[in-house]
Amino acid sequence: MTDNIVQEIRALLKERNAILLVHNYQRPEIQDIADLTGDSLELSIKAAKTDADVIVFCGVHFMAETASIVSPDKTVLIPRLDAGCPMADMITPEALKTRIAELGEIPVVTYVNSSASVKAHSTICCTSANAVAVVNSLAEHEILMTPDRNLCQYAASKSTKRIHCWDGYCPIHDRLTAEEVMNAKAAHPEALFMAHPECRPEALALADAVLSTSGMLDFAKRSDSQSFIVGTEEGLVYPLQKANPNKLFYRVSEFMVCEDMKRTTLSDVLRAITAMTYEVKVSENVRIPASRAVERMFKVTER
Ligand code: 13P
Ligand code: SF4
Repeated sequence: MTDNIVQEIRALLKERNAILLVHNYQRPEIQDIADLTGDSLELSIKAAKTDADVIVFCGVHFMAETASIVSPDKTVLIPRLDAGCPMADMITPEALKTRIAELGEIPVVTYVNSSASVKAHSTICCTSANAVAVVNSLAEHEILMTPDRNLCQYAASKSTKRIHCWDGYCPIHDRLTAEEVMNAKAAHPEALFMAHPECRPEALALADAVLSTSGMLDFAKRSDSQSFIVGTEEGLVYPLQKANPNKLFYRVSEFMVCEDMKRTTLSDVLRAITAMTYEVKVSENVRIPASRAVERMFKVTER
């Protein structure tokens, strides 16, 4: 049954000259049929460069929107319209404009986990992979960073700039406590602890490395260590284990599950590519200013 669905999906992708981009947190069976898996930065770069006519994006809504921002001539599909990101919903363009008016004209660094309309009001975007480099690339000393307060505090700890943090957070990463990390370390004293910068400062203070999801994949592969505690959404354990069959990976907590990332099933992907739904299209009046912020980020990371 699964084999049939996979074959149907692959045949339709070929027929429609479509590419399947899959985030590192997606279900294993979705990752297994991807043309490309990756973190937010890798997937947005791939979306900008692909020759495909159609991009099927298995992730959450802001990721498909970013693909539409950088590839306006392509059809971008998301298999589940209800796959959102609660952190992205913690800021609106209206609230951002009000804050900019309070602070004066300072640069706004916006995490890609945000809507296109918030990006449109921002100076530059960043991802978890390049936030520190983006902040440090700016000439100005005073900056506003949105919407993730934890990523913001992490970037501030690596910079001499004065950074105002928006008060948003990822409900999955923000709930990880230092106590849970200490417990995992006590259970696996030989393991290195890798943490995503969306975790709170108290958890990051205990990390051997603070990395994006693909940064963790790279780190685990290169490291001489044989075991790792994974401080991010649990979906990353699957590609880590697949790429490193002789190493051990432990979830830091059983509660780090992003329901939105887990919504997409193989049947949803088949429906998406069969019916060409759901299309994510950013209107030109939003896309043009949003693409400026995304392109500035690409320049910093020199794609
Ligand atoms: P990455 O860009 O590190 O893959 O993270 C995206 C995300 O949504 C983390 O919660
Ligand atoms: Fe958003 Fe957190 Fe889910 Fe990432 S893990 S998509 S930041 S809610």
